[in-house]
Amino acid sequence: MKVLDAEFVKGFIRMTSDGWEQGWHERNGGNLTYRIKDEEVEAVKEELHPGEWQEIGASVPALANEFFLVTGSGKYFRNVCLDPEANISIIELDDKGENYRICWGMRDGGRPTSELPSHLMNLEVKKKIDPKYRVVYHGHPTNIIALTFVLPLKDEVFTRELWEMATECPVVFPSGIGVIPWMVCGGREIGVETSKKMEEYDLAIWAHHGMFAAGEDFDLTFGLFHTAEKAAEILVKVLSITPNKTQTIQPDEFRRLAKAFEVELPEKFLYEK
Ligand code: 13P
Ligand code: ZN
Repeated sequence: MKVLDAEFVKGFIRMTSDGWEQGWHERNGGNLTYRIKDEEVEAVKEELHPGEWQEIGASVPALANEFFLVTGSGKYFRNVCLDPEANISIIELDDKGENYRICWGMRDGGRPTSELPSHLMNLEVKKKIDPKYRVVYHGHPTNIIALTFVLPLKDEVFTRELWEMATECPVVFPSGIGVIPWMVCGGREIGVETSKKMEEYDLAIWAHHGMFAAGEDFDLTFGLFHTAEKAAEILVKVLSITPNKTQTIQPDEFRRLAKAFEVELPEKFLYEK
């Protein structure tokens, strides 16, 4: 099968277009990674031609010998659907999980996203917790970023404030959302901090930069990212009208919601204000 005919590749490309249309990917902003299933690798094998090994810049032994579909560094999400082969690539990791090689794509040169260490460290953490996790997505959502200038950079505050903005939020991200203070992006250090948050959450915010989401498939991961950003948009509107809400969802109401929807909401987010 041709790489471009594979369903996982079509789903990946659709997600880059959807993210672009949402306004989360100005210029080359954002990146996407998919941990490819063995049978999906097998199906496109005839088109895979491994290049030279290169350093990842991080060590992810639990992902050794696996294949990933990734966006390219400096590539624009808006161009992916027009010319996938030039803007995305399939990479393979070595048996230590320390080097990668390009097997398909990046036709005109280039390398995987500069956030590859973060993506792979997040995928490694998630795989250990639940092997069904395959997608890690990073974008620059306007309202989430705006909130990192006005809310305290605490997991408890961001989670609670976003939960209050839409009844579905605690059901969609019951474990909450992690927040990382400003750091230099594009390397191992920020990847380590992000993957620590991914031990507990499926969402991690990078202050004054953007957000990461992890999930089992493209729909769940995009939907998660979208839901958090929508809640942030409502909060930005509310805070633009008034610093004080007249009414909101109360801790006991969240507890009732948790019961009705059979989700567990950690008590640390249900503090009295
Ligand atoms: P890349 O173009 O290297 O993927 O970087 C974009 C980005 O959002 C960095 O955080
Ligand atoms: Zn970014």
